[in-house]
Order: sequence, then structure tokens, then C-alpha cells
Amino acid sequence: LVLVVDFGAQYAQLIARRVREARVYSEIVPHTMPVEEMLARQPRAIILSGGPSSVYAEGAPGIDPTIFTAGTPVFGMCYGFQLMARGLGGEVAHTGAREYGRTSVSVLEPGVLLADVPAEHTVWMSHGDSVAAAPEGFEVLASTAVTPVAAFEDVERRLAGVQWHPEVLHTQHGQQVLEHFLHDIAGCRQTWTMLNIVEEQVEAIRAQVGEGRAICALSGGVDSAVAAAIVQRAIGDRLTCVYVDHGMMRLGETEQVRRDFEEVFDTLDVVDASEQFLGALEGITDPEEKRKIIGREFIRTFEAAEVRVFGDVAGGATAYLVQGTLYPDVVESGGGAGTSNIKSHHNVGGLPDDLQFELVEPLRTLFKDEVRAVGEQLGLPSTMVWRHPFPGPGLGIRIIGEVTRERLDILREADAIAREELTRAGLDRDIWQFPVVLLADVRSVGVQGDHRTYGHPVVLRPVTSEDAMTADWARLPYAVLERISTRITNEVREINRVTVDITSKPPGTIEWE
Ligand code: XMP
Repeated sequence: LVLVVDFGAQYAQLIARRVREARVYSEIVPHTMPVEEMLARQPRAIILSGGPSSVYAEGAPGIDPTIFTAGTPVFGMCYGFQLMARGLGGEVAHTGAREYGRTSVSVLEPGVLLADVPAEHTVWMSHGDSVAAAPEGFEVLASTAVTPVAAFEDVERRLAGVQWHPEVLHTQHGQQVLEHFLHDIAGCRQTWTMLNIVEEQVEAIRAQVGEGRAICALSGGVDSAVAAAIVQRAIGDRLTCVYVDHGMMRLGETEQVRRDFEEVFDTLDVVDASEQFLGALEGITDPEEKRKIIGREFIRTFEAAEVRVFGDVAGGATAYLVQGTLYPDVVESGGGAGTSNIKSHHNVGGLPDDLQFELVEPLRTLFKDEVRAVGEQLGLPSTMVWRHPFPGPGLGIRIIGEVTRERLDILREADAIAREELTRAGLDRDIWQFPVVLLADVRSVGVQGDHRTYGHPVVLRPVTSEDAMTADWARLPYAVLERISTRITNEVREINRVTVDITSKPPGTIEWE
């Protein structure tokens, strides 16, 4: 067990997943947990995360320095690095020299931590204060133009730290450095696999649900499929899977899901709730309002399904709802510690206040690529595991403006063409996701067959990503873009213009709403 102590970092979950990648089990604990309690759990190592504060700021979270002298290996990152320096008698200076983003570090002495790492490499920094002098007994391993002490270690006491963020993708050799700490300094064994996650979750679900029964909200995507497969292992036929067709699915999707899922799950209840959802969305244009309405209607549909399948909703016993919620959904809905609400994901921030279900969310701490790995371990079909993500609110958040049946039909046709051409070009695995967005309230003038047209534009939004937390616009080959553009303008009435979105995330998001 490795404990990741969270000082309010955006990245605590990311650190935990990097530790999992190093095949070591980890858990996150808040920095407010007393050190004795942490040590009582007998961790093999402790990692102190970064945090938004300066160690000098009033009320800045601290840590009892006995954590460094208990004999447990400790690794400090960014803020955690400074806490370690200060806690052991080193010097942290408020130099005013800040480093944000890409920074070049020079390795002075590789030691164990930076073994085999190039002498000059790029890392991701985000700090105002700097360590001016390392504590006694530590060897300084690296520096930058403005930070004299950017990494240090004391192999004897098994303590080490870096000023940068080894956990983020933009840091070169970050995983290597983390693994040097975990494997070579702390001596953690590499025994953790994705199957451990399944076993652990099966146990946790049995403990939570007991002899109860649960409904799983199946969307057709990989997340809910993996969640359902895990829960099915835990409680067998006391799970019923419900797929809601809210009228905002893509062309042929409901039939496809029905075919795919009936092979894997014993029971699949397909509910046609399009009247209900589209009725509730009438006249609504605000993205957050749409999301909240869709979140609410999902729950109302699941309540009705619960009554149909099991009898009364409450009926005295707890009703459980299984959702494939992932960590990025939680963060974006403002659910991380101190994170702000970017958009309310239908299954997190979009849930109604009067929710009667108790949620079962076995994937809540995982990232999409980890979920895919779990799905493969569970033997789910690869078409299911590698399906592009599709948001629960469906095409409803890809129509900018009011959602109507007519607009949905238009978008469905354009979307089907784009996806078909992507598949034909053999690019499905290279592209993370390929939304097509209808600007339903915008019209532009065109000419087709000598006639003036006054139609709507669609936006192609192909992106690449690792975990949807950040994304880049995909450089699709011109020939593919051309085919998509020609086909959409020829085949879809009402659309006379095709554009491509070339914004990364941040500053954009993947979906337009
Ligand atoms: P954004 O647009 O925030 O999306 O960059 C990140 C990823 O999340 C998906 N997404 C959702 N998925 N319910 C979902 O199940 C939602 O409400 C929701 N909103 C966004 C989006 O498609 C992308 O993969």
C-alpha cells in the first residue's frame, strides 16, 4: 500500500493512477489525517502531492514532520517537496521567481531517483516558492535556471522529492522517476494489476449491496458496460441492466447496443423514453439547464424501471443504481477537492436533489484508459471496449440551441456520415472521439445547383486524448475531411457548410456544451 497524501492538488488521482501504472496499489488520503493514523496503515511508502498554496501562506496545509523520521519512505512532489525540505531543516525561499508550465531541468547528479534520465529534459512546473537549501544528509540531484534545488534524495533514509510534477503527461520521464522512487528507493513490489481492481470492487459491492438488488444504467459505452460486468460478478442476477433511449442517440445506436449487450448480460431492459425527454427539453437552450433536465429525466426513468422490475421503488429496502462514473466526470462536475464546476455531467452534477437511489460506482477513481484495460481483463468484446466515448446527454448537447426532433434527425445523418468515413479511413483507434455539432440557430448563404441555399453549419470536432482531461484537435487527413464535407453537404438537407474545430482542451472542451 502506498498512501498519496492530498494537499488539494488537481492531480492527486493522477498520482494514484501513475502508482497503479507502476503496478503498486495506492490510496488517497486527505492531508488532515493524523500522521499516526497514516502510519498505522503500514504503508510501504507515502507520497506527498502538490497543492495550490505557498508553504508560507496563512492557513497553508502542513504535515507533522514526524512523517519524515518514522522510517517509512516518503516522496514529495512540488508542494510536498517543499514541505519535506522545510520539515527536515532545509530552506524554502519566497524568491518571487515563478515557474509555470514547461521548464527545462538539468541533472547535476543522477543518484537513484534520476538514474538513466537525460541530463537535460523538460518537466512541468507550477510553483512560486523554491527550495534554496536541501536539508542535511540530502544530495541535490537537479536544478533549473531559477531553482537551485529542483530534486533531492537521501537514499539511506529513503526520502526523495522533486519540485516538478512527474505525474503529468507533459513531464518527460516522469513515470521513470516515480518508478525509481517506488521500486528502487522504497522497495515496493510490482504485484498490482487491473484484476486486483475488479476483485477489490467486487468485495466492496458485496459489502454495500448485501442481499439487495440493483439497476444498472447502461449507456452503450465502455464505462457503464465495465461497471455492469463488475457488479454482475458481485451480485449475479440481482442486477438488472436498463438502457434508456432518450431520443438523442446516434443513428442505429439503440439496435446496436441491444445486439452487443444481449450477448454479455442476462437481462437488458430497453426503455423508449424519447417523448418524455424531448418534452422536458422543449424551449430549453442553456447548456447547464439541458444537462440538469437530462440528468433528472434519467433518474425518473430509472425509478419507473425499478418499480416495473422489482415492484415499489423504496419498498422499505434501499434501491441501488449502478453508474459507470469515471474520475474525470467527478472533477468536471466540481466534485474534486476544491475544483470548480466546468459542466454538470448528467451522472454526477446533473443528478436531482431528491435522488432516492444509493449509487454504486465502481469506476469512480479510474480514468478511461484504465477502464478499457479492466474491460479487456474481464473479456468484454473489443467493439465494446474500444467504442468512442459518447456523452450520456447524447446529441442533446451537440445541438447548439433548442433540441427538436427535426434537428436531431439532421444531426444524426451528418454524424453517421462522419463516423462512417472515419471508420473507412481506418482511423477509429487514432481518434479519441469525433463529435459533430449542429449550430442550429446559425444560417449561412450557399449555392447548390444554381440555387441559393440558406442552411445550417455543422462543426466537426475530432480530438485525440489520453483521458479526456486534456485533448488536442486531431489532424485528420485532408482527403478524409473532404469526403466528409462533400457527403454531408450533398446528402443532408439543411446543411450547406462544414467546418472543423481546431481548438485544444484547454481552452476549449471536447463537447460544445
Ligand atoms: P468535455 O466536453 O468536458 O468532455 O471535454 C470530456 C468527456 O466527457 C464526455 N462528457 C460526458 N459524458 N455525461 C457523460 O457520460 C455527460 O454529461 C458528459 N459531458 C461530457 C465527453 O463526451 C468527453 O468524452
